[in-house]
Amino acid sequence: MKEKIVIKDLHKSFGPKVVLNGLDLTIYENEILCIIGVSGVGKSVILKNLIGILQPDSGSITVDGIEFTGADAETRLSILSKYGILFQGAALFDSLNIYDNVAFGLRRKNLPEEQILAIVPEMLESVGLSGVEEKRVSELSGGMQKRVGLARSIAVRPEIMLYDEPTTGVDPITGGAVDRLIKKTRDTFGVTSVVVTHDMRSAGRIADRIAMLYDGKIIYEDVPDRFRETENRYVRQFIEGRANGPIQVL
Ligand SMILES: Nc1ncnc2c1ncn2[C@@H]1O[C@H](COP(=O)(O)OP(=O)(O)OP(=O)(O)O)[C@@H](O)[C@H]1O
Ligand SMILES: [Mg+2]
Repeated sequence: MKEKIVIKDLHKSFGPKVVLNGLDLTIYENEILCIIGVSGVGKSVILKNLIGILQPDSGSITVDGIEFTGADAETRLSILSKYGILFQGAALFDSLNIYDNVAFGLRRKNLPEEQILAIVPEMLESVGLSGVEEKRVSELSGGMQKRVGLARSIAVRPEIMLYDEPTTGVDPITGGAVDRLIKKTRDTFGVTSVVVTHDMRSAGRIADRIAMLYDGKIIYEDVPDRFRETENRYVRQFIEGRANGPIQVL
């Protein structure tokens, strides 16, 4: 397995609050890696460090063997162009119709309009939403908006997709459909996929590997079957959803 993203000894604090405390994590090409952990543990902070919205205090992130942290602007841009992101909300542009939303990244890449005209319906079809091009964002349900968000992200053919809580806030059936889409997107486009979630069921369904974040570090990582069976007390408490245990909440 080829290493795609290697995070080494990453530290990130906000004032006195230590969020990442020497995080090590390797993400392999073409895998779906789920990062799980309780609310507020720093899952989104990891993603924000990957895409440079937040700067780490120390540590290193390499993508395809190239250092991202502290790199010059050109290197950072070329690494950033590998990423597609599906944020917690779908983050669509309300003022644009669905076609223009999906076309957004393609236009930014200066693709000719006739090419965009062919790609947009293809992307919408791949997320099971043919024929909605002329609709406004407000006419679509939350689950459909998520799918449009995914179509918009994959239209520019990212090498790496980052998903922040893709199944949070949707019903279990829609959540299952989103899970299937994440897998299909990986299978079709071969994208390395990092999925941040606290939905253990979803993680078990889609992950090649699951990594659990606690106290600023990955405390356990394994394939789903072994993850479910482990005696690790932190993992057990999380899977069983118990308030009592080594993980302090509230
Ligand atoms: N820009 C920021 N400034 C200050 N504190 C921040 C900032 N971003 C995140 N934090 C803090 O870092 C911690 C981790 O936040 P993060 O959003 O990564 O949690 P999470 O694991 O994604 O939680 P959830 O499952 O609820 O989305 C929280 O305590 C949060 O308040
Ligand atoms: Mg989060």
